[in-house]
Amino acid sequence: MTAHAQTTDPTADMAARPGRGADGWQVLPAERRFAAELAFLAAYDDGPRPPGWALTPRAVVTFIQGSDGEPLCLAKERRTGPDGGELPATLAIPAKFVGERVLVERCVVTLAGERGLLLVGEPGTAKSMLSELLAAAVCGTSALTVQGTAGTTEDAFRYGWNYALLLAQGPTRQALVESPVLTAMRTGRVARIEEVTRCLPEVQDALVSILSDRRINVPELADTDAGVLPAAPGFTVIATANLRDRGVSEMSAALKRRFNFETIGPIADPVTEMELVRRQAIAAVARAGAAYAVDDSVLDALVTVFRDLRSGRSAEGWDVERPGTVMSTAEAVQVAAALALSSAYLPAGDVLDLLPGHLLGVVRKDDQADHGRLVGYWDGPVRRRAEEGAPMWRRLWDLRETLR
Ligand SMILES: Nc1ncnc2c1ncn2[C@@H]1O[C@H](COP(=O)(O)OP(=O)(O)OP(=O)(O)O)[C@@H](O)[C@H]1O
Ligand SMILES: [Mg+2]
Repeated sequence: MTAHAQTTDPTADMAARPGRGADGWQVLPAERRFAAELAFLAAYDDGPRPPGWALTPRAVVTFIQGSDGEPLCLAKERRTGPDGGELPATLAIPAKFVGERVLVERCVVTLAGERGLLLVGEPGTAKSMLSELLAAAVCGTSALTVQGTAGTTEDAFRYGWNYALLLAQGPTRQALVESPVLTAMRTGRVARIEEVTRCLPEVQDALVSILSDRRINVPELADTDAGVLPAAPGFTVIATANLRDRGVSEMSAALKRRFNFETIGPIADPVTEMELVRRQAIAAVARAGAAYAVDDSVLDALVTVFRDLRSGRSAEGWDVERPGTVMSTAEAVQVAAALALSSAYLPAGDVLDLLPGHLLGVVRKDDQADHGRLVGYWDGPVRRRAEEGAPMWRRLWDLRETLR
């Protein structure tokens, strides 16, 4: 045992504290969070799978879109899990990504064809979440991920060196440090590249040869078996790109051609968005081990304000001046969770009273004028609804001064 392993880990008991995530992780990766569902689906659908896939394409879609509340029944002879444990006889798969099934099907078919998949869209539309779910379902891991930044170098897509070994032995296969992309290639898995357009174009272009040649040449090892590292069947890439960042248009034509683009939009249906926000707010307080106590009408007001400001039009058809900031579902979820945590930990009066302050925090980011747009929303739709007598909107109208 090494000296390091013998030292007492000061955080070792944290996993046992109430309110900690499973295994002491704050957020488990999708493949661990949904391990039971993935094992069930692997046994449930034993149809043909693309090379290297853990599930059939249909089972991947079911994992992401859910089984519509229907429990799936597993035949008795298939109830042994991958670790020898027993799988349940029935399991209903909850929906995870809220969006059109055809979009998810197109994503899955793209990956089944070993083509690159690029998920583009406004911030907070669950591109990263969808990419993580797809990778976990297709190949059992979402961990082979590169986060694109302005400082990302080609090494992040190809390989680097362990300099101690390099100095001691010269260039050898052992001294080569694989990037997540190279590991995905070698093992026939899905590599995820987050925010690919934040990488410099010349760095992005390293992906062109990876996606066309499906191998990485290592000139330093040219005379050895490791001089060319080929991709195993099943290898592919899911990249995400945010439309508010430096443009997708700046990607080279050669790279664009190697990806199928899927645009992820905000959730179209208000009822579905409301359900998602509610579910996630409940989950946030459950993680904290507290009791959920937010009235649905508060969340209804929250989702309505977000949707009106996002679209520039109220549910009644009135014009609304859109702020420059993105009113994403992800932020609606965060505000809902904050309201739920406030009511659980700091109960004082009506949680609705906290809504204007949170909205101000979301809206007032880059552009000072956005503050005025939120006040304008209060003087428009909020006031009109209050005048029509809706009690919740009357209360919000009374809180107008808190927006100062
Ligand atoms: N369509 C959706 N289905 C399910 N959850 C959603 C959806 N849209 C937004 N969310 C919520 O938004 C959260 C954030 O999503 P995520 O970080 O994946 O967005 P993103 O599109 O990658 O954003 P960014 O461009 O800022 O990286 C999700 O964890 C989920 O709570
Ligand atoms: Mg993202």
